[in-house]
Amino acid sequence: MRFPILTPQEAAAFFKDGDNVGFSGFTAAGTPKVVPVAVAEMAERLHAEGKPFKINVFTGASTSDLCDGALVRANAMNMRTPYQSLGDLRKSLNAHQVHYFDLHLSELAQKIRYGFFGGMDIAVIEAADLLDDGSVVLGTGVGNTPTFAKCAKKVIIELNSALPKELHGIHDIYIPLDPPYRSEIPVFKPSDRIGSSVVKIDPEKIVGVVMTDKMDEIKPFTEPDETTKHIGANVCSFLIGEMRKGIIPPSFLPIQSGVGNVANAVLYGLADAKEIPPFEMYTEVIQDAVLDLMKKGRCKFGSTCSLTVSTHMEEEFLGNLDFYKDKLCIRPAEISNNPEVVRRLGVITMNTALEADIFGNVNSTHVTGTKMMNGIGGSGDFTRNAYISIFSCPSITKGGMISNIVPMVSHVDHTEHSVDILITDQGIADLRGKDPVQRAHEIIDNCVHPEYKELLRDYLKLGENRVGGQTPHSLAASLAFHTEFINSGDMRNVDFSKY
Ligand code: COA
Repeated sequence: MRFPILTPQEAAAFFKDGDNVGFSGFTAAGTPKVVPVAVAEMAERLHAEGKPFKINVFTGASTSDLCDGALVRANAMNMRTPYQSLGDLRKSLNAHQVHYFDLHLSELAQKIRYGFFGGMDIAVIEAADLLDDGSVVLGTGVGNTPTFAKCAKKVIIELNSALPKELHGIHDIYIPLDPPYRSEIPVFKPSDRIGSSVVKIDPEKIVGVVMTDKMDEIKPFTEPDETTKHIGANVCSFLIGEMRKGIIPPSFLPIQSGVGNVANAVLYGLADAKEIPPFEMYTEVIQDAVLDLMKKGRCKFGSTCSLTVSTHMEEEFLGNLDFYKDKLCIRPAEISNNPEVVRRLGVITMNTALEADIFGNVNSTHVTGTKMMNGIGGSGDFTRNAYISIFSCPSITKGGMISNIVPMVSHVDHTEHSVDILITDQGIADLRGKDPVQRAHEIIDNCVHPEYKELLRDYLKLGENRVGGQTPHSLAASLAFHTEFINSGDMRNVDFSKY
């Protein structure tokens, strides 16, 4: 190999205080596993000597404890974007110790190329293979790696021997030209390949290679419970109903599915919904459930940005590449989540809400309007451009102390204009073609937990009787559910007669 082999510590020495650093991957999949730990250890040493050291961290999405976790615990992170989901980082960014800014995942790569955040100093890239001409076969997550590699002044490769070289051919690497030269992104079906199977890096920029053999080590998802099973069944019965009406064509349309336990349970529901024909996915994350769906012949093809699967599924995938390789394509986030492509393909989008309000607005990110949970991820990229956009959530959380349907969301990620269907364990609300008051009745009747139905009807009456207007909110009472939860710990104690 023409590139120097470095220890993680030698690689860390390239990092300087204030550097903009891009890490490969998307979720733990494809995220570097040893260099970030060495950078965190170096930061601790420098801090002990009284020297400043913090970097600005750009990723594809969430990473892993070996990246976000190590860096944040070492107080080595100044800025972080675009999505995260790790407890320690969540704590730090909510305390403003890390400056986190959240944005739609499809947008980060182009904003880096446009120069919005200054230059990119270093890219750290996990690879399954590296050739002397600088061609890199990536791991199981692409994220923003092609743009990091293109823009960074220096590149460090983590060459991972746990990843077979035979991953070559599963990726589709494509960077669109920037305005005013951009033309259409020529993906006309989920399986279209439009780019290269490798990331081509200027070999002069590769300062060294660090050898690893660590797996992604993604924990298994929580097994579906009664609530998530009901949500999954409701999603399937909605989709079947739309097919029977002819709104979804008999050949079906590509599906996008969000992240988390609810999304995983919804996908498991699709395994048994035999009236839905084998389908394709155009999505950003493929979780355990999708590989099962592929084995059962239910999912024909998956276009994704990462394969975020638990360790036993990763082993099964890497051991059966011949089976999976023609059924999967792993793309950069700006293509897997591209609004132009999502709208063209007619993607049915299924994402999870933290809370929704009776008029159809959705909060995916902020607990009680203030504390960042994870970030908007790709939910906006897909929802706004969907053929049919579906949001699901449980009707209640924390043993019923929280209603996931509230009078007014405490933070808005997806406005009423982008949300077609709301689904909970209680049922399905079809918001299409309905005015705000009709939507409120549809949601209260079909999606709200019985313990909260009367309370939300009282709220609607309050607005209608006292305020009126197209969207009859009582502004004084609109956040009463949230303030009651903060004060007494139980939204059921709200008394709208006080307003
Ligand atoms: N208020 C307070 N806490 C709430 C809540 C609410 N309205 N709704 C859920 N929670 C809590 C749950 O109790 C749970 O807490 P715990 O970790 O202490 O058990 C946690 O939030 C996660 O909820 P869960 O029901 O397990 O949902 P999930 O794993 O399916 O995740 C989101 C739900 C919304 C956090 C997750 O889907 C997300 O981050 N979405 C935004 C990004 C996105 O949609 N990406 C996909 C695009 S492709």
